[in-house]
Amino acid sequence: MIKKALFPAAGYGTRFLPATKSVPKEMLPIVNKPLIHYGIKECMNAGIFEIGFVTGRSKRAIEDYLDKTPEIENAIKGTNKEKLLEEVNEMIDKCVFTYVRQKEMLGLGHAVLTGEPLIGNNPFAVVLADDLCDGDVLNQMVRLYKKFKCTIIAIEEVKKEEVNKYGVINGKEIERDIFLVEDMIEKPEIDKAPSNLAIIGRYILTPDIFDLLRNTKPGKGGEIQLTDALLKQAKEGMVIAYKFKGKRFDCGSVDGFIEATNYFYEKMKNGK
Ligand code: UTP
Repeated sequence: MIKKALFPAAGYGTRFLPATKSVPKEMLPIVNKPLIHYGIKECMNAGIFEIGFVTGRSKRAIEDYLDKTPEIENAIKGTNKEKLLEEVNEMIDKCVFTYVRQKEMLGLGHAVLTGEPLIGNNPFAVVLADDLCDGDVLNQMVRLYKKFKCTIIAIEEVKKEEVNKYGVINGKEIERDIFLVEDMIEKPEIDKAPSNLAIIGRYILTPDIFDLLRNTKPGKGGEIQLTDALLKQAKEGMVIAYKFKGKRFDCGSVDGFIEATNYFYEKMKNGK
């Protein structure tokens, strides 16, 4: 039912300067795989094989990663290194990747709107690859979409002193871990946050979000905020927030990135 995913990946990644001067944040590796690799795998696990990227200047490494590399393949042919390319080659074979460039970085909401030509009039997943999830989070959300047929956003409880880094929701828990969204605020001041339920970088969006985004004025930080359009959607219709099962690392921050590296290194060593 959800066939397409959009990866907004045009942000400057300023927290990772100087590396992100020339390497897209989404291409920074956790152990030996770039962040997008994990995100695409999560999509495939959820039955999503049409993947659109919103990119920008100096993001070409993403396209190169998702293409064949015959010279390298020839060089390692017949060696035990061949298996290192198996997973990415499977992605290249099974998925269709499309790209559009965001010309000005006017915010996540604007990035999603820029992706409209890649999505069309379909419900779709949004993956922020720097939120790295271990577990089938998108798959859990696709299942919920089948039940509720409305926008689903992933949330996580965060420490109270960290709410100002996130979009934060308020809502009524209608089933265990499933909330009907009543309010939503982008990066609230700590004492003004309606809860400690933070929005993380996984969404299933219904396509009416595009019209809402078109009519969304710049909000927090002068950016067109996805959160503002989602709040309108919640008020006019219905939006579900879902406390997912699994582990999430904020790889857009240096601390989260190191934590994820240690975690996935241990997993790799243990052959998981
Ligand atoms: P972030 O808030 O993490 O911004 O964007 P950033 O530029 O990537 O990183 P910092 O804060 O400067 O270190 C959240 C997501 O939205 C995308 C980013 O690529 C990231 O996936 N984004 C943000 C866009 O695609 N376009 C934008 O204009 C803004």
